[in-house]
Amino acid sequence: MTPSSPNSELSNQLSTFEKDILEGLEATPKKLSSKYFYDQQGSKIFQMIMDLPEYYLTRCEYEIFESYKDDLYKQFSKDTKTFNLVELGAGDGLKTQVLLSHFVEKETAFTYLPIDISAEALHQLKERFTTKIPSLNFEGIQGEYFEALAQLKTKNNPSKKKDTRNIVLFLGSNIGNFGNDQSLNFLKQLAQNLNQDDYLLLGFDLKKHPNIIRLAYSDKEEINKAFNLNLLKRLNRELESNFQLDKFSFYSTYIPETGEVRSYIVSEAKQDVLFKKLNKTIKFEWGETIHSEISRKYSAIQMKEIATEAGFEFVESYTDCKGYFMDMLLRVK
Ligand code: AVI
Repeated sequence: MTPSSPNSELSNQLSTFEKDILEGLEATPKKLSSKYFYDQQGSKIFQMIMDLPEYYLTRCEYEIFESYKDDLYKQFSKDTKTFNLVELGAGDGLKTQVLLSHFVEKETAFTYLPIDISAEALHQLKERFTTKIPSLNFEGIQGEYFEALAQLKTKNNPSKKKDTRNIVLFLGSNIGNFGNDQSLNFLKQLAQNLNQDDYLLLGFDLKKHPNIIRLAYSDKEEINKAFNLNLLKRLNRELESNFQLDKFSFYSTYIPETGEVRSYIVSEAKQDVLFKKLNKTIKFEWGETIHSEISRKYSAIQMKEIATEAGFEFVESYTDCKGYFMDMLLRVK
């Protein structure tokens, strides 16, 4: 047996969350993953972001679904008796509701299967949909996306795949929050966990005038700032750290060449932050940044190329009247 240092003993006992946070804050430059934004309060703040006048993304996708719900219905039900609508990370489900209500009106045989890691989120979604659309077949799946999709793939006998098509919804520009190369890997894994001829409806934010994009993430009400600083509150609560929130601010910028909005939490002083639970102190310089999120924008051509490389073929694309946002329908090759 190799003797372990006190440090490696500590890291053996840490949860994935604790390890990620510690690694990120001990790195140079510092970073934290935006996937940790969404505690209860963070999810509420994200709802507020979606209502901001500057944050056009949600409204644009809503408009697309209102305008093209029947075209989507025709695509989804073509050459198949029934379909599974599998949504990855449904959130409050408001946009999806537009499609679901329309499909129910059409008396189509389909099942809605939202996949979410949080049982509570699924429970709330089920409550909402059973009240709003009582005749909807709702089968929430709690778990990781790919594990749940693999189950669905084996459940669907491939010889019967003409009878039930799986259609994955990955909406709201969630793909934009992946780092470099992660989006290609994610789409590859998605294609591998689906059957040939299954569909993916992918919602992503388009490259456009930089000012429009920048303002969506630097709103004057400072809700994006609150969204970021809420992560420090979460760390104070869960890791017993002592971040003083008024000693941190927020900075976000859009880089047109890469299509990235990059968001940062900024230290407004030279200061130490103690993590009691982890028995660690993290030092900050004045003006030092913690990179907290990437929100990547794509051109339609770029996304087609990535999707093709991942194993999909292009079927159709839909945009809002301003041409800000796109939902691309892709088929597994
Ligand atoms: C969830 N995601 C697509 C949002 C975005 O636009 O990147 C999260 C967000 N971050 C800041 N504002 C909104």
